[in-house]
Amino acid sequence: MAGWDSVTTPDATTQPGSERPHSPYADTPVPGDPTQSALVQAARGRTTPHTPVWFMRQAGRSLPEYRELRVGTGMLEACATPDLVTEITLQPVRRHGVDAAILFSDIVVPLKAVGLDIDIVAGTGPVVAEPIATRADLDRIPELSPEHVPYITEAVSTLVAQLGSTPLIGFSGAPFTLASYLVEGGPSKTHQRTKALMHGDPELWRDLCARLAQIASTFLQVQIDAGVSAVQLFDSWVGALPRADYLRFVEPHSRAVLTAVGEQVPRIHFGVGTGELLADMADAGADVIGVDYRLSLTDAVERTGGRYPVQGNLDPALLFAPWPVIEERVTEIVREGRQAPGHIFNLGHGVLPDTDPTVLTRVVELVHSLG
Ligand code: CP3
Repeated sequence: MAGWDSVTTPDATTQPGSERPHSPYADTPVPGDPTQSALVQAARGRTTPHTPVWFMRQAGRSLPEYRELRVGTGMLEACATPDLVTEITLQPVRRHGVDAAILFSDIVVPLKAVGLDIDIVAGTGPVVAEPIATRADLDRIPELSPEHVPYITEAVSTLVAQLGSTPLIGFSGAPFTLASYLVEGGPSKTHQRTKALMHGDPELWRDLCARLAQIASTFLQVQIDAGVSAVQLFDSWVGALPRADYLRFVEPHSRAVLTAVGEQVPRIHFGVGTGELLADMADAGADVIGVDYRLSLTDAVERTGGRYPVQGNLDPALLFAPWPVIEERVTEIVREGRQAPGHIFNLGHGVLPDTDPTVLTRVVELVHSLG
C-alpha cells in the first residue's frame, strides 16, 4: 500500500479497533491531503486501511443541532448562506466521524440561481411555480455561470480549509432528475408529464436536457475549482425509466456531465431503483457506481463486470431495526464490498429524518472496526 505509511492524517492512521477522533478540526484548520484519504483512494479502486463510510443526507433533520440551526431560515436561504452551509456540512463529520463531508446544498440550488421560481417545501420537496412544458418555457432557463453561485465557492473554500485531510464531496442533480422536477412542477411518483414530453417532443426534451447538462457541469466545476475532492451525480429518479429510454433520452446528457468533469476528481453516479440501468450508468463515465438497497453489492459487482468501485448500500429503514440486525447487515455489506475494486460504505438512499443519530455513529464505528 505505497503512499499510506507516510501519511499521518486521522484517516490514514485509523486502524481496526483504534479510537477515531471525532473532532480533529473543530477549532483549528488541520493540514492534510484529502486525495490520500480512504474515500478518494477507494473511489480510485485502491486498497485502503479501512472501508470509508459516509451517508447520503448525513446533514439534515436527523441531527438536533441541524434542526436548531435551521429555525427561522428557509432551506434555499440556508443553502445560499456560506456560514450556515459550512456549519451544517461539518456537523455530521464532527458527530459521526464519517470519512467525508458532503456539501450542504440541494440539487435545485443552481436552478434557483439562474432565476427560476422554485422553492423547497418542508415534507414535500422542490416545488416549481411555472413548470416547463414548451420551447418558450425552455428559453426561460439561462445557462449557469460561476457568478450565479458565489456562495458555493465561498462555502467550499472555507470547508476545504477546515476539513484538512477529510475530503469534501460536491454534487449535482443529473439532467433527468432535474428535468423531472421542472416538468412535473414538483415531486412525482409517476413522472407522467416528463415521460410524455420525452416521447412527445424529443427535440424539446433533448434541448432541455442539454441545458440542464450545462447547468450541472458548471455547478460541479465551481465546486471542483473551489476544492472538492470527489463529486456525486444524483440521478435519483431515473430508475423510473426502461433501459431503452434511458439509453436514448438520458444517458447522452449524463455522459456529457461526467465527461466534462473528466479525471479531475472521482465521479460517483447514483440513482434509486436503478438495478436494471446499473451497467449503463457506470459506463456513462463514472468512477464509482452508487447502489441502492434493492440490489446486493454482489449483484451490482456482477452487473458492472467487476470493473467499478461500488458505493452503498444499507437500507435506511433498517436503521430503525434492533442493533444486532443492523450489525449483521453492515458486516455482510462490507464483506460483499470486498468483491469490488473499491467500496465506499453508504446507505442505499438518504438518511430518514427520524433516524436516531447515535445509530449512525455506531454504524461508522462498526464499519471502521471491520477493517
Ligand atoms: O447531507 C447531504 O446529503 C447533503 C445535502 C443534500 C440535500 N439535498 C439537503 C436537503 C443533498 C445531496 C441533496 C440532494 C437532493 N435534493 C436530491 C438527490 C438525493 C436524493 O435524496 O435522492 C434530491 C432528489 C433533492 C430534492 C429534495 N430536496 C428533496 C426530495 C427534499 C426533501 C423534502 C422533505 O422535506 O422531505 C429536499 C429538501 C432537502 N434537501 C432537505 C435537506 C437536508 C430537507 C429540508 C429541510 O431540512 O428543511
